[in-house]
Amino acid sequence: MPTQGAPTLLISGVLMHRIKGIDPHRDTLAKVRTISPLQGRVLDTCTGLGYTAIQAAKVAEKVVTIELDPAVLEVARLNPWSLPLFNDPRIQQIVGDSFKEIQAFADGSFSRILHDPPMLSLAGELYSGECYQHLFRILEPRGRMFHYIGDLDSRSGRNVARGVVRRLQEAGFRRVVRKPGAFGLVAYR
Ligand SMILES: C[S@@+](CC[C@H](N)C(=O)[O-])C[C@H]1O[C@@H](n2cnc3c(N)ncnc32)[C@H](O)[C@@H]1O
Repeated sequence: MPTQGAPTLLISGVLMHRIKGIDPHRDTLAKVRTISPLQGRVLDTCTGLGYTAIQAAKVAEKVVTIELDPAVLEVARLNPWSLPLFNDPRIQQIVGDSFKEIQAFADGSFSRILHDPPMLSLAGELYSGECYQHLFRILEPRGRMFHYIGDLDSRSGRNVARGVVRRLQEAGFRRVVRKPGAFGLVAYR
């Protein structure tokens, strides 16, 4: 879907980036900045058009990014804004289900995680306690994770965030901080 800047993607009628009063590029910067500096190895759980992975790879040593739907990657191949996703040697792509793929990573594999899933109703497993337990396990001690939620000041955003914070804390994260400007939360291991 075209915007004034970088295009976004619509899946089941749901936008994969924010475009109201912002554009997909600035939306990406807002997400990534919440866990800067993006040092070491970074996991991006949902590739989409690759914007978060591409931004992270500008600083990180290595970025592993996972996308469930090969059709999304086909669309990304047609998008000039996604080009580095296919030619930056620091980005490793996995086509698969993040919920399953994260179970195979060793403990402490990543220093930062970008968790930018579709909304809860489209990808419930990616908001589950079991998912958060693995994300906690594969994050190194003192590592940080950004978790996109949506507008934290909307009724649905508040409800989703409440459950997410509880499950993140149950998974072991010592601190969870609201980041309303980035429409998400930062969880500290
Ligand atoms: C909000 S978009 C991600 C946007 C991306 N961070 C970017 O910068 O372009 C969510 C993406 O997650 C993908 N997805 C949905 N379920 C998934 C899963 N279980 N594992 C991996 N990717 C998944 C969707 O196909 C979609 O492309």
